[in-house]
Amino acid sequence: MANGQALPREAVVAVIGAGAMGAGIAQVAAQAGHRVLLFDARTGAADDAARRLAATFDTLASKGRMSAEDARSAAARIEPVHTPGACVSAKLVVEAIVEDAGVKRELFGDLERIVAADAILASNTSSLSITALAAGMKVPGRVAGLHFFNPAPLMPLVEIVRGLATDPAVADTLFATAAAWGKTPVHATSTPGFIVNRCARPFYAEALRLAAERASDCATIDAVMREAGGFRMGPFELMDLIGHDVNFAVTQSVWEAMFNDPRYAPSPIQRELVAAGFLGRKSGRGFYDHAAGAAAPAPQSLGAGQAPAHVSVHGEPGLLAPLVDRLAAAGVAVRRHPAHPMFPDGAIDTGAAWIALTDGRTATARSGATGAPNVVLVDLALDYATAKRVAIAVSDRCEASAADGAVGALQKAGYTVSRVDDAAGLVVMRTVAMLVNEAADAAMQGIATPAAIDLAMQKGVNYPRGPLAWGDAVGAARIAAVLANLAAHYGEDRYRTSPRLARAAQAGGRLGA
Ligand code: NAI
Repeated sequence: MANGQALPREAVVAVIGAGAMGAGIAQVAAQAGHRVLLFDARTGAADDAARRLAATFDTLASKGRMSAEDARSAAARIEPVHTPGACVSAKLVVEAIVEDAGVKRELFGDLERIVAADAILASNTSSLSITALAAGMKVPGRVAGLHFFNPAPLMPLVEIVRGLATDPAVADTLFATAAAWGKTPVHATSTPGFIVNRCARPFYAEALRLAAERASDCATIDAVMREAGGFRMGPFELMDLIGHDVNFAVTQSVWEAMFNDPRYAPSPIQRELVAAGFLGRKSGRGFYDHAAGAAAPAPQSLGAGQAPAHVSVHGEPGLLAPLVDRLAAAGVAVRRHPAHPMFPDGAIDTGAAWIALTDGRTATARSGATGAPNVVLVDLALDYATAKRVAIAVSDRCEASAADGAVGALQKAGYTVSRVDDAAGLVVMRTVAMLVNEAADAAMQGIATPAAIDLAMQKGVNYPRGPLAWGDAVGAARIAAVLANLAAHYGEDRYRTSPRLARAAQAGGRLGA
């Protein structure tokens, strides 16, 4: 069977299912030099896809992305076929048909009788168990997951998924082949959601919880996640793009596959959107109105506050050090007081209010714990030196003028300030803490190596930093403290700490590679 090396270019690749993913995978394989047989059960679908791909190659040539000669030959390498039996010469079959285990197993059963004994059978499934798809096959070792991301020609990541019976050499051959096709492959084991669809769940889930709590509106949360968190898209705009039917189905399938672990529980808010048919961009309405001409709602940004002439930094500013530097650069006098009785991890005293980094408790809880009425908590930023926006929460007892001074100080440092309700862990911090936690659990369970997990989240969903490296940058102990505070605040098992994270927090060890 496979020898762990990339398939030679002469090897024929068959793609079954000529929909969005199958057509994209056919394009990638043809551009890499393989002859590609494309089959779809729907009459005419493979021919239509081949025609569209020829047009795509022409467009790429007209834009100078490939030569006209390469465009012609790539198009000529894609051959629509009209029966599965025509795939007999394929050395690799990639199925991208309907996401239904029974239909996929039936297809693999047919293919097993058609292709040569040394051919690899790969599935592009996003949610089904590769182990289960291979079960009952004569040679289950040749079945593996080859999970591309949408759109396949543009997204670099490919998860190479091993079921319990997958021959490691088959996984290695797929890995080397995906790399030869210009992709970024990562190895993963067959577990619910594999790497990306599992580790990304908190990105949507925490935003949905904040919306359910009415902590803020979608446009503000999205802006905070982009402009403070450094994510390319906010969670609500991304869910609207993916489609709530698809996003909800993935969440539900991971939750069910995890035997209803509350960590993965879907959101009633999203279920309502699906029930209403408000599926996002494709239906014209989701969290946002996508009708032609509809104005995008603006995020909430506070009006100008009165900045103090000087601030006192008590203790070590830690992660907020670049924020303090920005204050100083803006002309605010900064006095340093290394002794810090009020806030254990450092805080900025504006003279009227304390500004501190969120630790997963509400501002009101921290006001209660310190006895200081005027507490303004700042959300995490990917990089405080360059962030455009920060979110804040204000303690319930905080005087308006004190909050105004804290806002003015942050604005003076160059941040646009969004005030959200006094939600535990604010927006970016709680999302990042849960992403780190999930990635730590995935690493502990051997789903992939820490390096593969970080790479997958950057290349599969464009995160600005791998979650484990992010956890190291924030500090495992701080992330663990945020989760412990969230768990205490909500009293829910959802926020339980991954043993791997707890260990890194206790031992001062690293989470990432
Ligand atoms: P799609 O609906 O665009 O295309 C599926 C195609 O398969 C259709 O053309 C259909 O006629 C054909 N088909 C259905 N049953 C068939 C059978 N028994 N034999 C041959 N052809 C058959 O679906 P899409 O989005 O391309 O998804 C395909 C697979 O890729 C699914 O397993 C999905 O979970 C997975 N996937 C989808 C992603 C996405 O964002 N759409 C991302 C990654 C994976």
